[in-house]
Amino acid sequence: MSSVNTTPLHTDPSLFAGVDVYAVAGNPIVHSKSPVIHQRFAEQAKQRMHYGRLQPELEAFAEVAKAFFSAGGKGMNVTVPFKLDAQNLADVLTPRAQLAGAVNTLWKTEGKIFGDNTDGAGLVRDLLAQGIALHSARILLIGAGGAARGVIGPLLEQAPKALIIANRSSAKADELVKLFADLAASKEVALESRTLADLEDPAKTQYPFDLVINATAAGLTDESPLSSMAVSNIFVPSSFAYDMVYGKTTAFMQQALQRGARVSDGLGMLVEQAADAFLLWRGAQLAASIDPRVVLAELRS
Ligand code: ATR
Repeated sequence: MSSVNTTPLHTDPSLFAGVDVYAVAGNPIVHSKSPVIHQRFAEQAKQRMHYGRLQPELEAFAEVAKAFFSAGGKGMNVTVPFKLDAQNLADVLTPRAQLAGAVNTLWKTEGKIFGDNTDGAGLVRDLLAQGIALHSARILLIGAGGAARGVIGPLLEQAPKALIIANRSSAKADELVKLFADLAASKEVALESRTLADLEDPAKTQYPFDLVINATAAGLTDESPLSSMAVSNIFVPSSFAYDMVYGKTTAFMQQALQRGARVSDGLGMLVEQAADAFLLWRGAQLAASIDPRVVLAELRS
């Protein structure tokens, strides 16, 4: 391990004899809340686990991940910018990881590395836990990158009335609509694309939305993807605005608040996707003894 990663953000399973070792890999990774979330799950389930951090250099994900698993690592969460590398690394992908086009959870069984994606399921569970009805809802998903793609399948499974994907540039949103057309048809969901500029035109948005999800990278730089004209078209006081970014009230959330809508950051999604990773790694029986909502409340306090 030490030959591939000499930073302190380094987890070597061979140093933890008798303890199952997991890690989250990303770059940067120092601020990740995943270690504290998984530590709390381990305590709740009375499991001896160590969950550390890995910060591979940008080109070194595969090397670092292989070394981690060769040294006895049991499982890994993967975050920005390595979810595509993780998909390429996995020997076996679950159907939802294939559909998501990205992997956020890896584990090794019988010599093979498996990859799954729990982001979309985590988002859906957090929304439902916050009392947001998804069945028959009119949903606007802003963004068409990896973060957006990862949640489309699980959102469609909830059979909303409509799922509109809006992106700055139209080609990527059009591509996603094509990719998910069959699933949308099977759930009788109106799946359509728009540009961000279209959102300024009431004729093109058609209606305000029950749920607006920001899956763009704009939240990270404290910009909103929405113009004020778009904001007045898409939000009404009964709308719910969800930003996948966590730890702050983003510009997007502030716009929704100004329209009287309710808002949430993405911390609940983070905790819920971690709970699904715990389920994959430790099994249903142990997963039944963890309580993600308690961990979320602790993180917020
Ligand atoms: P990720 O994997 O995090 O989704 P990505 O694949 O680079 O990252 O996609 C970033 C998304 O955020 C894209 O939908 C991008 O829009 P474009 O496809 O038009 O580039 C969107 N995005 C990034 N910065 C943005 C901004 N300032 N305003 C609006 N959209 C933005």
